[in-house]
Amino acid sequence: MQNPFAFSNYVTGESFCNRNKKLSELLKYIKGSQNVLLFSHRRFGKSSLIQQVFSKIKEKGLNIGAMHVELYGTISEKDFITRIFQGLNQLESNLERLLKSVSKALSKIKLDLRIDSVTGTASISPSFAAVNEKIILEELMNILLKYSQKRKLVIAFDEFQEVANYTEDGFEKRLRSFIQHHSNICYIFSGSQKHLITEMFNSNSRAFYKLADSFPLGKIETEHYIPWIKNLFSRKNVFLPIELIEEIVSRFENQPMYIQNFLFHLWEIPRNKEYSPEIINDLENKIIEKRSLEYTVLWETLSIN
Ligand SMILES: Nc1ncnc2c1ncn2[C@@H]1O[C@H](COP(=O)(O)OP(=O)(O)OP(=O)(O)O)[C@@H](O)[C@H]1O
Ligand SMILES: [Mg+2]
Repeated sequence: MQNPFAFSNYVTGESFCNRNKKLSELLKYIKGSQNVLLFSHRRFGKSSLIQQVFSKIKEKGLNIGAMHVELYGTISEKDFITRIFQGLNQLESNLERLLKSVSKALSKIKLDLRIDSVTGTASISPSFAAVNEKIILEELMNILLKYSQKRKLVIAFDEFQEVANYTEDGFEKRLRSFIQHHSNICYIFSGSQKHLITEMFNSNSRAFYKLADSFPLGKIETEHYIPWIKNLFSRKNVFLPIELIEEIVSRFENQPMYIQNFLFHLWEIPRNKEYSPEIINDLENKIIEKRSLEYTVLWETLSIN
């Protein structure tokens, strides 16, 4: 069996541990078309939760269109628009129909078609040469509105705090003016810079003031890690004692990414070996050794204070 543990990408399906309460809570917001502000420390599982709730929507056969827009690294309104365009194929997988509906809405705007060489998926992006991006944003928001009139939508803006650094005047206000009329869309605003993102939604001088319910994401409880880890290792015919699982989880203070990283390496240790506390210690030391250069660099960049 392939190693089920992963630490560098989103995790879904069997690599995703529990979060059942959060998933059903999030589904309620999605079904009711209410906005949420999903925030946590870095690498706690925000993007994975978004992907997992999207899979649940499919699994349950709900008639809700879902789009995940990654805003990391965007620095302007144009970037924002381009990323949404690139995500439209998540709402309409039929390229012909997608092109038709977009070119109907944006009749005066030239569109570029791009094929991703790795996944083979096609996406479109507008040419900003002849038209002001404010107009394109308005038309794009109208496209989303039209889609949402046919069926409910959920649109996740991941790393939404990037928007606060866009240089265009009044971007947040303009975006808000469209979003507040989208009564059939649940927007998930997700981000990890807690202060920045909560300020955007909690300060009454900001455009997104109280536009979404707070949805903080914490660590995963030990009681949920135990059956998940036990079950995955049993597929390899390996029995991991509960005490050992508790020890691993507590060493990494229930932080999902570090636990996945450790278990990824533990899985690779040949099966004929007993998983004893010594093996856990050895593996931890090896991981620390591997990272020692990283830690040294980090240490050296700290100020005297
Ligand atoms: N429910 C989960 N069960 C098990 N592991 C998880 C879970 N959620 C996240 N992880 C682990 O944490 C890692 C980071 O997850 P993810 O990218 O979803 O977090 P994030 O909060 O979006 O991170 P970032 O701050 O970098 O955007 C995953 O690769 C995985 O190892
Ligand atoms: Mg993320």
